[in-house]
Amino acid sequence: MNKQHEPMEKQVTRETFSTSLAVFFATLGSAVGLGNIWKFPYMTGMNGGAAFILVYLFFVLLIGIPIMVSEFYLGRKTRKNAVGVFDVLKGPKSFKIIGYMGMVSAMLIMFFYSTVAGWVYSYVVKTIRGDFRFLKDLSITDAKAQTTAVFDATASGIEPMIWQGLAVIVVATILMLGVKKGIERVTKTLMPVLLTLIILIAIRAMFLPGAAEGISFLVKPDFSQLTTSSILAAMGLAFFKLSLGMGTMVTYGSYFNKENNLVGTSFKVAFSDVAVSILAGLAIFPVVFTFGLAPEGGPGLLFNTIPLVFSLLPLGNLLLVSFFVLSAIAATTAMVSMVEVPVAIFTEQFKINRKLSVVMITSVMFIIGVLTTHPDALFGYVRINGMNLFDSFDYLASNVLMPLGGLLITIFVGYYVKKNHILAELTNDGQVGNPKLIGAYHIILRYITPILLIIVFLNAMGLFS
Ligand code: PHE
Repeated sequence: MNKQHEPMEKQVTRETFSTSLAVFFATLGSAVGLGNIWKFPYMTGMNGGAAFILVYLFFVLLIGIPIMVSEFYLGRKTRKNAVGVFDVLKGPKSFKIIGYMGMVSAMLIMFFYSTVAGWVYSYVVKTIRGDFRFLKDLSITDAKAQTTAVFDATASGIEPMIWQGLAVIVVATILMLGVKKGIERVTKTLMPVLLTLIILIAIRAMFLPGAAEGISFLVKPDFSQLTTSSILAAMGLAFFKLSLGMGTMVTYGSYFNKENNLVGTSFKVAFSDVAVSILAGLAIFPVVFTFGLAPEGGPGLLFNTIPLVFSLLPLGNLLLVSFFVLSAIAATTAMVSMVEVPVAIFTEQFKINRKLSVVMITSVMFIIGVLTTHPDALFGYVRINGMNLFDSFDYLASNVLMPLGGLLITIFVGYYVKKNHILAELTNDGQVGNPKLIGAYHIILRYITPILLIIVFLNAMGLFS
């Protein structure tokens, strides 16, 4: 049956992912990233553990999944980039702003994300070289001081800029290879490796003396720790985590094969992403509690504590290498999906060839990123409202542009697209899915998701602080 379709597909120059498994791994590759490995554990640590996770799950269900389904709908229905979608569909053309804002978000996120990815890459080499092996011969205090010193050295001077450049070059190379040979092949090879490593590391961590305490931190909710701001933080995390509101899922959706069950893929990706975050938590919190570290370590949780604790265990160096390899995979496949948003817009809307688009876009990302997000960079001293540029870029993308994009997507799909069009696309013309579930999705999309989103904005404007 596929044979018959082949000649027709040849006429369409656009590439698609070849199977539903490829769709799943590519999309999961976008969702799983540094967000799971440092943002999730650190935010959970700061906001009281299990109670925060429950609230986060609530938002994944009521905001994350409805928006993901809507983005897939827009992409696959039109087979266009995040701007081009609105050339094809009926409705106000002004919604193209979603795509342009997405391009800006992709830039802003890349500026700081590629910096952190660079640190991760450098730790892959440092751990392979065995730089942390000697820690076990030191007292805990000296070992802590040493790990901090290594991280400070990694983050200052020229070194991090070179690593950042390398991370950007890797991403650019994958993107130049295209959708099938680049994105599909890399995610299909690396995501199973990532999943295996995170499971092995989580299992190892569960045999540590502090495991019980770590696990109970993750499963026993303490609602007294939940504040208004942590509830809203959980909502923002759902956006960043699932790569929503900036056209990433629209763009990937436009590469999905037509047999794919869009609602099913959304649930599978969201569920697996949550599972990876929990596994990362299971790997990190037992070590945190075993060694009496503070659960709210922030980005330092990854770089200051993981080498410290893993290097003290038997086979620790192997665990350490695995941990940073999986972090590097996660960061890379997530960056690929971010940069694909502007790349698709450049190639299709502006008709610039793919390789040239990739070079132009990634060069801008690297140059601005390298000049702004390192403490020693030319503009490293700049503060906006007391925040350095690294944090300001994150704030602007995650707390302003992505939720705004998400709100516009819900309004467009909820109010401008006919319900029977949505039903037809989401069921593949009656082949898959449950129409009742899709009816429920439509109601949530129209009445619940936008209201929750407006709460995020009011928070961003400081109304609750
Ligand atoms: N979801 C990725 C993470 O958790 C980040 C990301 C955001 C990727 C936006 C693509 C687009 O790390």
